[in-house]
Amino acid sequence: QAALPEGYKLRALRRTDYDSGFLDCLRVLTTVGDISKEQWEERYDWIARQDGSYFILVVEDTNTSPPRIVGTGALLAERKFIHNLGSVGHIEDIAVAKDQQGKKLGLRIIQALDYIAKRVGCYKTILDCSEHNEGFYVKCGFRRAGLEMAHYH
Ligand code: ACO
Repeated sequence: QAALPEGYKLRALRRTDYDSGFLDCLRVLTTVGDISKEQWEERYDWIARQDGSYFILVVEDTNTSPPRIVGTGALLAERKFIHNLGSVGHIEDIAVAKDQQGKKLGLRIIQALDYIAKRVGCYKTILDCSEHNEGFYVKCGFRRAGLEMAHYH
């Protein structure tokens, strides 16, 4: 289990995190767009209502003033009928700020999400990634399984 660097904290995303670096973190991953504070709060509240099935974690660097979110990751616990009403964990939107990569923050986020998945009863945790990131997920204990298909709308 990797430890976080001094002054770095792993915690759940908060409604007050709009201006904390969270969205910039996600911009490392893909297009985020121009999200207003109102839109942010509306989406945050919707996610918060998905009680027990939607978890967003962040890593916050408290060495700076104000503290800055430098990493994030999400877990969706999908309730199924199969496998005796089993649940599957889906890891989504893992991103570490460019200047913070290589400090094991990504690993720590994945470990924490996988721990939550296990605790809420998921029999497996799955994710999609590019070939480029395969090595990272292998280091996190994942292995290649299946093939992703997509239909973009
Ligand atoms: N390929 C191979 N190995 C890698 C890679 C990679 N692309 N990235 C990291 N590693 C290795 C590290 O060297 C380290 O190995 P070590 O234990 O031998 O030292 C180990 O994986 C853990 O690395 P971390 O330091 O925890 O990685 P980091 O904090 O930099 O986060 C991440 C990795 C999340 C991929 C980061 O580079 C990032 O944000 N990239 C841009 C966004 C992105 O591609 N996100 C993933 C999308 S897939 C998804 O969301 C499901």
